[in-house]
Amino acid sequence: TDRYAVIGNPIAQSKSPLIHGLYAQATGQDIDYGKIEGPLGPGGFAQAVDAFRAEGGRGLNITAPFKLDAFAYATERSQRAELAGAANAMTFDGERVVADNFDGVGLVRDVTRNLAVPMTGRRVLVLGAGGAARGALLPFLAERPAELVIANRDVDKARELARIGAAEGGSVAACGYADLAGQRFDLVFNATSASLRAERPPVPAGVFAASALAYELAYGKGLTPFLRLARESGVERIADGVGMLAEQAAEAFLWWRGVRPDTADVIRTLTVPLV
Ligand code: ATR
Repeated sequence: TDRYAVIGNPIAQSKSPLIHGLYAQATGQDIDYGKIEGPLGPGGFAQAVDAFRAEGGRGLNITAPFKLDAFAYATERSQRAELAGAANAMTFDGERVVADNFDGVGLVRDVTRNLAVPMTGRRVLVLGAGGAARGALLPFLAERPAELVIANRDVDKARELARIGAAEGGSVAACGYADLAGQRFDLVFNATSASLRAERPPVPAGVFAASALAYELAYGKGLTPFLRLARESGVERIADGVGMLAEQAAEAFLWWRGVRPDTADVIRTLTVPLV
């Protein structure tokens, strides 16, 4: 039995053990997947990971607040982890620690496959310029949207992401919320942490195109203020991050075990009604 776990603080709320347990069952993989509450003090993350490796642990998922610590802990990093500046999965092979980040690809997979909303040639708006937006940047650009706009209260942070996108050959515009007035988008993603405090980024209601998709990256918060605004603006297609959660886990499972689990059952199991 190969051992894996998710590390975070707090960690009680994590659905990763449930998800990976269901994937293991469905694919016949003999794994044990646990939870680790990482200590918050200096060096706490590294000590907890060292201990897990010493016990024979094969890989970890990393959640808040340790995604940057995991990135620093690794001895090798994938290009997308480098570009996100953060890691959400690690694999251990002797002294080697390889870090990757599946959040962005998981999000794109959920949107383009599960929700069947293409990004190619569409106008895409991302709200927020923190870690979640950064992780989505390159996977979004790979879909070749007609336009990718990042709006943030702190416009300099959005400009920094636009610079990273441009360095990778993409075209990204940065702006503040007020600059969005009069613009319309086919896909609007809330990548701010506002929903965690039941707040809403100050996005004008008019940004949603008639057949837009409004996507909340947070999971399990029900109808967040952002999704409520979208619905009140006549948007019919709204989604939260349940599919993103299931898809990033499936990517990590594939990376570790060499087999891609089907995500449909997990998404059905974890879906919380958006009311
Ligand atoms: P995460 O890793 O979840 O992205 P983060 O890196 O701390 O977290 O970034 C939080 C993001 O949410 C930022 O873009 C932040 O905007 P600012 O950079 O302008 O502070 C955004 N955010 C948080 N609360 C918000 C609110 N109430 N309205 C608008 N944006 C908010």
